[in-house]
Amino acid sequence: METWDTIRSRRNVRVFEDRPVGAADLERILEAARRTPSASNRQRWDFVVVTDREALQRLAGVWRGAGHVAGSAATIALIAPMADDPHVRESIHYDLGQATMSIMLAAADAGIGSGHAAVESQTLARQILGFPEDRFCAWLIALGYPADRPLRPVRTPDRRAWDEVVHRERW
Ligand SMILES: Cc1cc2nc3c(=O)[nH]c(=O)nc-3n(C[C@H](O)[C@H](O)[C@H](O)COP(=O)(O)O)c2cc1C
Repeated sequence: METWDTIRSRRNVRVFEDRPVGAADLERILEAARRTPSASNRQRWDFVVVTDREALQRLAGVWRGAGHVAGSAATIALIAPMADDPHVRESIHYDLGQATMSIMLAAADAGIGSGHAAVESQTLARQILGFPEDRFCAWLIALGYPADRPLRPVRTPDRRAWDEVVHRERW
């Protein structure tokens, strides 16, 4: 897809076709995640990719807004170190946000839908994914071919008005 079309086509997809994402596409999506910029290039992240249906169904239980993970073709769990310092925490989340967008745009570029999910139960996430005690699962990103409608540029995005959010030179 052309870059501008990719940016405009990405939207949260929560219903997926029952077909796998090809290995090459999944690899490209993970490589996009790995290439994400991060503060001081610290790369405080690990990516656990899950494709096993039973595991995906269990993973959907980590948060009431994670139901769409169950029917995804693959879900990438973003794992990060726990941090007490609020500045470090903020910086980790900034980096994870960028990794999320890299994943989502690489997916959209291949016609693959993606949907965020927050994680409430770290205990359940840890049981399923097996990450160490000093890490937490920050977000899940569900992937798969959209079952509602294919990805194409969204004409009228549900966003605040241009003039309300764009400030030129000064607020
Ligand atoms: C930090 C963050 C957390 C989110 N958590 C969830 C979630 O737990 N479950 C969900 O269905 N969507 C979640 N979303 C998706 C947002 O609701 C969605 O991005 C927003 O409504 C805009 O819609 P769009 O992505 O289709 O443009 C999350 C998005 C972000 C950025």
